[in-house]
Amino acid sequence: MRYVLIKYIREGMILGKTLYGDNGEILLTKGTSINLLYVKILIRLGYSGIYIRDELSEDITVTEIISDALRMRTMKSIKNLMRPNIKEDEIKSSLKVIEVLTKNIVDEISCNKDIIVNMIDLKVASEYTFYHSVNVCVISMVLGSALKLRKKDLYLLGIASLLHDIGKIYTPNEILDKPSKLTYEEFETIKLHSENGYRYVKKYLNIHTKVSMGIYEHHERYDGTGYPLNIKWEKISLFGRIISIADVYDALVSDRPYRKGILPSEAVEYIMGGGGTMFDQHLVRTFSDRISCYPIGTCVILSNSLIGIVVENYSGYSLRPLVKIIQYEDKLVTPYLINLKESNYNVTIVGMTDALLFR
Ligand SMILES: [Fe+2]
Repeated sequence: MRYVLIKYIREGMILGKTLYGDNGEILLTKGTSINLLYVKILIRLGYSGIYIRDELSEDITVTEIISDALRMRTMKSIKNLMRPNIKEDEIKSSLKVIEVLTKNIVDEISCNKDIIVNMIDLKVASEYTFYHSVNVCVISMVLGSALKLRKKDLYLLGIASLLHDIGKIYTPNEILDKPSKLTYEEFETIKLHSENGYRYVKKYLNIHTKVSMGIYEHHERYDGTGYPLNIKWEKISLFGRIISIADVYDALVSDRPYRKGILPSEAVEYIMGGGGTMFDQHLVRTFSDRISCYPIGTCVILSNSLIGIVVENYSGYSLRPLVKIIQYEDKLVTPYLINLKESNYNVTIVGMTDALLFR
């Protein structure tokens, strides 16, 4: 399958990956033939692109870190937990479900040693907070796994990252959803969510302080320019330092009401640029080894004017994937593979492209 921007989706294209609606319900199953009504619905829901399956991309498989089913169940549980007016006993039962789901995520991630985050943003716009929580959890746990954290700590990191923004249940919606720049006072109100999240976890979960501290410190910055404590370097807990990278990365690649998300390669570059200042340099290195700049299924243009689809990514080589070449400048070629990881290929990826003849 390959990823195609919504503006290039045409009637009759075959959906490569199941899509979900507002409430995590299945909207369109993979294999569905797309029609114009579906395209309109997808645009309304905020999808910027979708995976399609065609002859040229039928040998390309998008590997997911966690299964769609687990991702959607977790997303729905976070949504349930963050709903307004939830009762005390419902909070407790909902948190029990989240604990079980986190254990399942740990199990799925632990199975894969050389795991690399291969994520294209497929969020439903109105559900940003819940999708974001799951993405931050997955990225944090991949980082944790690369750092060889023990299974128990990976689980704690999973809970902390899933609940990192739980304190936002106390932030007024008009501030959270404001499409324009926040005033000083509004920003000060938003900033309270770190401490509110810390208090929430202390109140409802009988769990290691690594979790509450990770939540408390997820907006601290390595050089002391974050909030709420303005602490720096290793004074910030490991969980706080990990979650801050995952949180910023996923926010950057997401479409928001006030701006479009940036490309994964640009977001990785931003995080790398912040190594040693905003973020812990060692963790940034681990992150950049484990996140693909050009996710599987995206179209890329090479420095020698070849154009192709990314087939595979390798940990430690996030800029050098395996690419299926299908086009040279504006001419189609017989498809063949180039593995950029092999050093004898003296070419680089210039960027992602929509300049495909076979659209
Ligand atoms: Fe936050």
